[in-house]
Amino acid sequence: MKTILIQFDTDAQPSVFDRVVAVDAGVDHLFSYGGVTPETVTGLVHGAMFTRGPGDLKSTAIFVGGSQASDGEALAKKIQKTFFGPMRVSVMMDSNGCNTTAAAAIASGRKQLSLNGLNAIVLGATGPVGLRAAELLAVEKATVTLVSRTLERSEAACATIRQKVEGASVKAAAASTAEEVEALCQNHQVIVAAGAAGVCFLPEGSLRKIAGLKLAIDLNAVPPNGIADVSAMDKAVEKSGVICYGALGVGGLKMKVHRQCIASLFESNDRVLETRAIYAQALKTAGIES
Ligand SMILES: NC(=O)c1ccc[n+]([C@@H]2O[C@H](COP(=O)([O-])OP(=O)(O)OC[C@H]3O[C@@H](n4cnc5c(N)ncnc54)[C@H](OP(=O)(O)O)[C@@H]3O)[C@@H](O)[C@H]2O)c1
Repeated sequence: MKTILIQFDTDAQPSVFDRVVAVDAGVDHLFSYGGVTPETVTGLVHGAMFTRGPGDLKSTAIFVGGSQASDGEALAKKIQKTFFGPMRVSVMMDSNGCNTTAAAAIASGRKQLSLNGLNAIVLGATGPVGLRAAELLAVEKATVTLVSRTLERSEAACATIRQKVEGASVKAAAASTAEEVEALCQNHQVIVAAGAAGVCFLPEGSLRKIAGLKLAIDLNAVPPNGIADVSAMDKAVEKSGVICYGALGVGGLKMKVHRQCIASLFESNDRVLETRAIYAQALKTAGIES
């Protein structure tokens, strides 16, 4: 039976990026829909779940994307509510690459060192990527500081993680200047910079000033970098005794994970690939036992 991936994008135009990855993942047919909302998705999901017999439904799957992760989350929730009994298809949610990027970043770090018990700090932790990176660090039993320019926002992000990860050790912090960010980073062994494109949190020379730092991951691919000492191409490059990854250094694993997740949707009709399941795939792809 031919595989069909149905792309539901919350933006008006379905993402070209996600379409290319779907083709590269080997899907036979790709149906792309833009401007999909929880209010308009039910009929489209019925088209996916009522056309093939239960035994063949594993050859149909849904991908949820778009630029707004919160819209993607709401859409994925509605899609799963539409299913019943065996009448379901596998679903992956990766709006704006939020899950695959966070998963690849933390799996890259895990490849270098155990995160259990370390102090980790996430800069730009309130965005879709930063929030998920912080969640995965908490899953790895790191103590995680979530940084925003506004304490209220980092506190809300911490509350979200506490709901998702039992026993999560997270704390909220606020910083607006490079000096404040650098002071907060002291005595953290892991930094993940996940600020908006082009936002520099730590200027050149900062890495060597942060006591105890072992790992720095900067996900910002748009110059200037989020951590000026880390270049976008860095992939496990040691600088001032710190292992560094840049956005493109993480990007290779991210792309592999995205393709493998799409391919795995067709192994059964009941997969739900969101942050944790995508992280499990990233660990596997990176050759790490979870
Ligand atoms: N390598 C890859 O494959 C890949 C894939 C996807 C995304 N990315 C990159 O990952 C990063 C995170 O993505 P995202 O979508 O989560 O980012 P985002 O939502 O655009 O921004 C993340 C956070 O950055 C903070 N921020 C925004 N403007 C700021 C400013 N002027 N100064 C300081 N902080 C600021 C905001 O936090 P507060 O308002 O709470 O301070 C915001 O929540 C981006 O740089 C993106 O380009 C990389």
